[in-house]
Amino acid sequence: TFVHSESLTELEFLYDGAVFVNESGTIVAIQGPCEEAKVKEMMFPRLGWAEADVDIVRAKDGEFFFPGFIDTHIHASQYPNAGIFGQSTLLDWLNTYTFPLEASLADPAKARRVYSRVVRRTLAHGTTCAAYYATIDAASTNLLADLCLAAGQRALIGRVCMDQLSPDYYRDASPEAAMAATRQTIEHIRAVDPQMEIVRPIITPRFAPACSMDLMRQLAELANEQNLPIQTHISENVNEIALVKSLFPPSVTGATPTDDNGQDPTSYASVYDAAGLLNDRTILAHAVHLTEGEARLVARRGAKVSHCPCSNSALGSGAARVRWLLDRGIVCSLGSDVSGGYSPSVLEAARAAVLVSRHVAQGAAAAGQAAEEEADRQKLSVEEVLYLATRGGAEAVGLAGKVGGFEVGMEWDAQLIGLGVVGEDGEVEEQDGGDGNVDVFGWESWPDRVAKWVYTGDDRNTKRVWVKGRLVHERK
Ligand code: GUN
Ligand code: FE
Repeated sequence: TFVHSESLTELEFLYDGAVFVNESGTIVAIQGPCEEAKVKEMMFPRLGWAEADVDIVRAKDGEFFFPGFIDTHIHASQYPNAGIFGQSTLLDWLNTYTFPLEASLADPAKARRVYSRVVRRTLAHGTTCAAYYATIDAASTNLLADLCLAAGQRALIGRVCMDQLSPDYYRDASPEAAMAATRQTIEHIRAVDPQMEIVRPIITPRFAPACSMDLMRQLAELANEQNLPIQTHISENVNEIALVKSLFPPSVTGATPTDDNGQDPTSYASVYDAAGLLNDRTILAHAVHLTEGEARLVARRGAKVSHCPCSNSALGSGAARVRWLLDRGIVCSLGSDVSGGYSPSVLEAARAAVLVSRHVAQGAAAAGQAAEEEADRQKLSVEEVLYLATRGGAEAVGLAGKVGGFEVGMEWDAQLIGLGVVGEDGEVEEQDGGDGNVDVFGWESWPDRVAKWVYTGDDRNTKRVWVKGRLVHERK
């Protein structure tokens, strides 16, 4: 069984089918329900394949193939802090927990230890592609790229840029120093993966408060020159937004009211837009408190949102209104945002996205802002969050049509999911996929099985993972 998103609201199920993947990892044919012998007889000659040369992966009872997850916002460098945030909120969390850890990864041995682990761990959770933030240290950022390439995980690798308002021990000395280090990581990645098939650089101004206008402008220019993606944070926390307003008046940004659809030239989105950082290759994490004018600006520029529900809940940042963003034509995807987010799992983020959307709905109804029907519309379905985790993610990282679904011409980035099938004796056999938390009795419909996976599954259900046809994780 193959399951993928057909549209935002619908999953497509292919039962007893077969997907044919060539040596370079591209899907060359898809066969509908058919017996294995017949499929081989029909398809192998047509593809010019000799059976002896073909690796056949058979899904067992209770197993299904699903596209690999795309985590559009994760700080590889913060992985050791996953789950450690106490009662902090964004700005004190950065100073207390985050900057000291990130700074410490300038130690190459420590960086190797942390980055090796986070790549293995996210692959084990079915993340076949991740947009990573590393640190300001170029050498260890390059190491993260090397480790992703070796492990076979598609990755966008961001060397973090921050030249103001950060501690002395963890800050770029100047915009020029940040640019030089950024160029160094870009060159390294081009050298190790010239076609940029697995690893790609991503321009990474940390967030407006930590970046001078000069630095943001130079980064935008570099991104345009080299057609590179951009990632940053936006409108995560109310104190952060106030800080941006005070740091970036129009006299600093040169923003005019027309930049923000006649609304507010001091808005967070206007600051990025004035720097030239908003375009259709930009991933904006959080977007919790965007105004109507900002959302319209983001939509007009074609920038994508990484929704980070675990992080926004953990740091008390707020509840992003995903339906509201989607209604405005903004592409949304999911980010774990480790370690603002406590979990490296995109499945966990998907589950949290469903729950947070229910809080948004309840909040709107309770505040009298929406009638019951309109409030209900804020709720995201299982189908929708899985779309965000795959197709939405692919759009955000610039790989739409290449990954995120099973179609001829797309690449085989996939996970084999196993749910435990309960036998007559009430036991689940290991060989039937049964070492996880999900019990299937056999009478559930396939949509119900997928819902059980989303709400109760974890990495124990992720049996095997492939990127571009290469097996990159197998659960032992
Ligand atoms: N804003 C600036 N830096 C960070 C970070 O590391 N994590 C989160 N969640 N928000 C940020
Ligand atoms: Fe983040």
